[in-house]
Amino acid sequence: MDEQKIKELITYACNMRAFSYTPYSHFNVGAALLAGDDKVYTGCNIENASYTPTICAERTAFFKAVSEGVKDFKAIAIVGGHSAADELDYCFPCGVCRQVMSEFCRDNFLVIIAKSVDEYKTFSLPEILPERFGPKDLLC
Ligand code: THU
Repeated sequence: MDEQKIKELITYACNMRAFSYTPYSHFNVGAALLAGDDKVYTGCNIENASYTPTICAERTAFFKAVSEGVKDFKAIAIVGGHSAADELDYCFPCGVCRQVMSEFCRDNFLVIIAKSVDEYKTFSLPEILPERFGPKDLLC
């Protein structure tokens, strides 16, 4: 994927952090998911007083896309950190979000973990979720 597209996705993810609802952790995460048709689905984390209904930014983005009939994805950019932080560290996706990626994405799906548009790392899905359990194990 070309660098300009990666930077564009990171910018979308950064902007989503403003919408995070995080009264408990104050840890704001933004995600931008690039679909096969180049449309971008964004997401932020949304917390809950009962804690377990909390949803991560990545899953918000995936579920927005899937709920609109989109199931073909190329990449996701993820940016996260404390809402008051001046500089961000790398924020890796949690195990549940990696499993959701595994449901809908192929091995060449690109995971972009960013501190800023200029500082990012990229991984393939098998790199962040090796030996994954997925649809291939259940569907004939
Ligand atoms: N969080 C995400 O949105 N994505 C991740 O992959 C890691 C964690 C959120 C969930 C919760 O609102 C906050 O970060 C602290 O765990």
